[in-house]
Amino acid sequence: MSRVRATVDAAALRHNLARVRACAPGCRVVAAIKADAYGHGAFHVVTALADADAFAVATVDEALQLRWAGVSKPLIVLSAIRGVADLTACAEHGLQPVLHDATQLAALAAHGGQGLEVWIKLDTGMNRLGFPAEEAGALHRRLAALPAVRLAGWMTHLACADDPDDPATMTQVRRFHAALGDLPGERSIANSAGILAWPDSHADNVRPGIMLYGASPLLGRDGPSLDLRPAMTLTAPLVARKSVAAGEAIGYGATWRAPEDMPVGLVAIGYGDGYPRHAPSGTPVLVHGKRVPLVGRVSMDLITVDLRDCPEAEVGDEATLWGEGLPVDEVAAAAGTIAYELFCRLTNRVEFVYIDSER
Ligand SMILES: Cc1ncc(COP(=O)(O)O)c(C=O)c1O
Repeated sequence: MSRVRATVDAAALRHNLARVRACAPGCRVVAAIKADAYGHGAFHVVTALADADAFAVATVDEALQLRWAGVSKPLIVLSAIRGVADLTACAEHGLQPVLHDATQLAALAAHGGQGLEVWIKLDTGMNRLGFPAEEAGALHRRLAALPAVRLAGWMTHLACADDPDDPATMTQVRRFHAALGDLPGERSIANSAGILAWPDSHADNVRPGIMLYGASPLLGRDGPSLDLRPAMTLTAPLVARKSVAAGEAIGYGATWRAPEDMPVGLVAIGYGDGYPRHAPSGTPVLVHGKRVPLVGRVSMDLITVDLRDCPEAEVGDEATLWGEGLPVDEVAAAAGTIAYELFCRLTNRVEFVYIDSER
């Protein structure tokens, strides 16, 4: 029996892509699969999401690994383009770099642009990557002076779209469109939160990431409440059961004490697998479809759960840490983090199993 297992379901990925298409009809879908598809396994995710129009990664290396694995769809490289060598790799392998600063434009001029199709990123208020939006016209003139370069389009990234009441999103959307006017090129603004909560941000291309994996991009919501299905279910076996007496402490630092005589279970997962060490007592775990709260500190290989509401649990039973039946958003909220981080931090000790529950 394997220890910690992440089961990734292609049917859930397809369902979530269909949700993107239903929310943003008529838009091209650029699926964000950076960081190994948010920890799900980029090659498998690309295969499951064959209906996406394009894929977005963070680095040239991430894109090249997919090209070498036979992925032929358009690949957009969102950041980390450094110098002429990266542009040469993009041209050779048909990768579309996103350019966001003057040093990259200088490299583009040095390269000459032959065979390159580029995106230009504008900063409309996030103050992360991007040229000042007001420079769009001047940027377009500079690109026009390099006739070998094809302009794929313009993009910007939303800072606060997770809050449907925050006016900053519409300010960014308006600023983007105003800066571009009628300049040629496709437009791309929306991440998952934009797709779900901000129809005015949809433009020509949407760039979903987290919603494809079934987690919520919106504050205070979970994936299932947005009709998203968890792509990943993380499980680990119950490897011991014991009774602790009232007043006895559990685990390192004795941070939790049994309020009464009670059964507890030890689940074979810990921060060595990527389960968050800072998950506090009370963080939900699922056994036999019941929530059994974590008690005491997370250690490297083990956690302890309170089995008072699940006395039937036995050694060898499977516990679900997140996924089917337990939204990752709930675990992330309990642990003071976000689903993105929980997915990305799983370690190579976790066994990945790829299924298709509909085939
Ligand atoms: C430029 C860009 N577009 C799209 C996305 C996808 O965002 P999300 O996973 O919130 O949908 C990201 C992810 O951070 C990004 O950096």
